[in-house]
Amino acid sequence: MADPDSRAGMAYITPEILEFVQKIHAPHDVHLQRAFDAPAAEGMPAIQVGPSEGKLLGLLLQISGARKVVELGTLAGYSAIWMARHLPPDGHLWTVEENPKHADVAQANLAAAGLTERVTVVEGEALAVLKVLERHGPFDAVFVDADKTSYDAYGRWAAKHLRPGGLLLADNAFCFKGLMGDTPEAAAVRRLHQETAAAFDSVCIPTPDGLLLGVKRGP
Ligand code: SAH
Ligand code: DHB
Ligand code: MG
Repeated sequence: MADPDSRAGMAYITPEILEFVQKIHAPHDVHLQRAFDAPAAEGMPAIQVGPSEGKLLGLLLQISGARKVVELGTLAGYSAIWMARHLPPDGHLWTVEENPKHADVAQANLAAAGLTERVTVVEGEALAVLKVLERHGPFDAVFVDADKTSYDAYGRWAAKHLRPGGLLLADNAFCFKGLMGDTPEAAAVRRLHQETAAAFDSVCIPTPDGLLLGVKRGP
């Protein structure tokens, strides 16, 4: 039976329910499984999005007709595979990663998944790389999942370089439960929320750690 707690933010999700729905709606083939397992297997932090978030990212790109997409924070390429698979044949994903080992592992996982043509892994610091990527814009979607201290700057870049109707997506919008805290990360993510609401039609989807979604107002 439903109760008022769900409107107050309580979640009905349990590990067992999450696993059940993920297996049905967001199953892994060998390529997604390889990219999902890679961080733990390669001694990298296992901080990729969950399967349901990966599928959600893909479907949001699909329903918005996204063709040119930027991702900040590649890790092992798990979210990149989800997103790239939901682009049209002439679509392209540029995914930015500053850690050379992460970039190499991602490149190998994307190659195994047959996505080298559709995805460019750009090795470098996000703010520096974004300056170079500008010439490929305007973009249809930007997925922010790198260091939280620059989330506000990433959002400003997206507001400038997305087309009207383009999507801003940001993982960890609850900042690991610390969004209201007194840290530079939390302050930057709070600014992202505020500035996104000003320039986009927006909502924070209550995934386990929050997925910010903004649709750029235009023109
Ligand atoms: N989107 C990935 C997970 C990304 S984890 C997935 O869901 O599969 C965050 C990644 O961002 C890490 O690999 C980290 O090395 C990278 N990163 C952190 N700060 C960065 C920066 N300033 N520029 C580029 N990459 C950064
Ligand atoms: C961390 C980063 C992420 O993007 C995430 O989804 C989970 C954890 C981290 O830096 O610890
Ligand atoms: Mg994240």
